[in-house]
Amino acid sequence: MSNLPDAFAVRAVDLRRSFGSIQALRGVSLDVPKGSIHGLLGPNGAGKTTLFRILTGQLKPDGGRGEVAGLDVVAERSELRRRIGVLFEMQNLYPRLSVRENLVLFAALYGVAVSVVDELLRKFDLFDRRTSKVDTLSNGMRQKVLIARALLHQPEVLFLDEPTTGLDPNWSLEVQELIRGVRDADATVVLATHQMETADALCDTVSIIDRGSLVANDTPRALKRRLGKRSLLVETGANGAIRGDRIPFDDESSAVRIAAALRDRTLVSIHSEEATLDDVFRQLTGKSLKEALS
Ligand SMILES: Nc1ncnc2c1ncn2[C@@H]1O[C@H](COP(=O)(O)OP(=O)(O)O)[C@@H](O)[C@H]1O
Ligand SMILES: [Mg+2]
Repeated sequence: MSNLPDAFAVRAVDLRRSFGSIQALRGVSLDVPKGSIHGLLGPNGAGKTTLFRILTGQLKPDGGRGEVAGLDVVAERSELRRRIGVLFEMQNLYPRLSVRENLVLFAALYGVAVSVVDELLRKFDLFDRRTSKVDTLSNGMRQKVLIARALLHQPEVLFLDEPTTGLDPNWSLEVQELIRGVRDADATVVLATHQMETADALCDTVSIIDRGSLVANDTPRALKRRLGKRSLLVETGANGAIRGDRIPFDDESSAVRIAAALRDRTLVSIHSEEATLDDVFRQLTGKSLKEALS
């Protein structure tokens, strides 16, 4: 299917899937470059999990094609399982087993040497807690164990479906750094998330899915720039009577107005106003992701 077999870790072409009368995916096409982090953003029911289940060989599409790590997700699904790591929203650890026992159990299932477990425990800064029962860990630590478990067999592509559900709402900087480490080891990470700030900070590219269709796919920076909200917020005044003026970057008069603001003795602050990914989401879907979730 691909002319550039090494360039993309994930290729989806016109994937469709219905459940009865519900069209969960209405023709989704998506390319994710190898060695990158891709974020799939969308409200509940948008089709994220359905797309992940298809791309990980757990569900057959009604139409279209998917290729992950160069393998067809339907025809080559058993080989696919060995080449991908998966952490889905409902997955959990065995709470009564220790950190290390949890990982050793999975290592055995995958035929992975126990030395790999200890290596990962050290890399994830969990080695000192290896004998702790999982139910005594903080949410952040449990999240790290889950991610470590998905990485045991050194997958080429790691799928994380809302790995924050029931855990920390925002990914810690440490977990973000671990995910970057996965990418920097040449693997590809595809994550579905509600966390706009995390997606913005972490992802090389993001796509937005709404009611079964992809409505955008680009770098976070390009998406925010495309929204065209480029302005400075200038605050002037004193004693509780602060007024804010918005100066767009691209007007003829911008330079003059900015210069005037700088000369204004009552100048309090100048902020550059940037669109957020949530602004982008709202423009494309007509609703805020935050509102869509509440
Ligand atoms: N196994 C299923 N049976 C029936 N409907 C389903 C099934 N899986 C998903 N759906 C429906 O498909 C749509 C997309 O669901 P899903 O992919 O889970 O969305 P998301 O992960 O973005 O919240 C929803 O309307 C959901 O109710
Ligand atoms: Mg889901």
